[in-house]
Amino acid sequence: MKISASFLQADQPAKTVLELNQTKIDFFHFDIMDGQFVANQTRDFKVDQDLALLMEKPFDVHLMVEDVIKYVDLYKNLNPQWITFHLEVGDTKKLIEYIKKQGIEVGLSLRPDTSIAKLIPYLELIDVVLVMSVEPGQGGQKFLVETKNRIEYLNHYRQNNRLSYLIQVDGGINNQTITECQNADIVVVGSYLTEGINLKRRVNNLQNKIA
Ligand code: DX5
Ligand code: ZN
Repeated sequence: MKISASFLQADQPAKTVLELNQTKIDFFHFDIMDGQFVANQTRDFKVDQDLALLMEKPFDVHLMVEDVIKYVDLYKNLNPQWITFHLEVGDTKKLIEYIKKQGIEVGLSLRPDTSIAKLIPYLELIDVVLVMSVEPGQGGQKFLVETKNRIEYLNHYRQNNRLSYLIQVDGGINNQTITECQNADIVVVGSYLTEGINLKRRVNNLQNKIA
């Protein structure tokens, strides 16, 4: 299982990114919010561009936005490994094709109360499923226990249908709840890391739980 760091809650994101570069995390995770799909709004693109330049690990972009194409056109310039958008936005097939056409891998996410069965028509088309383990929109929320069943479902579906999408889980993950994510490939960890003083130790705490 790989660890991806979200710095959404960090007071000084640039400083946090530099510190995280020195740890054994595998990825960074960019959360982008437009104030429409979710109530909160994130920094503007220029700030994110500067942050991306500091990153010494690959990263993905998690779009919590209504106008997916507008944000893909912006964030593709940062060379993310994959871009994830939300199923609830609609036009899913068209958006998957649009991202692929840019030469970028595609992630699809869903809110915790959206039925997982709605993903099925798209699972053979995408590279990553991002399972939200909290309501999208802010860091520091409590991990939803039903997430475990969603991971299991996606893992069995993948095995039974010989598919190869990765399962990524996002929200409320710490050194306890990480044990509920056993068949996930990547976990996104935000405030558990960024609220700590010793980031290296916090990353080690997580890795010890999954070793
Ligand atoms: C929530 C974001 C998450 C969040 C994770 O809307 O998508 O990536 O920042 O942060 P924690 O780990 O604090 O839930
Ligand atoms: Zn996220």
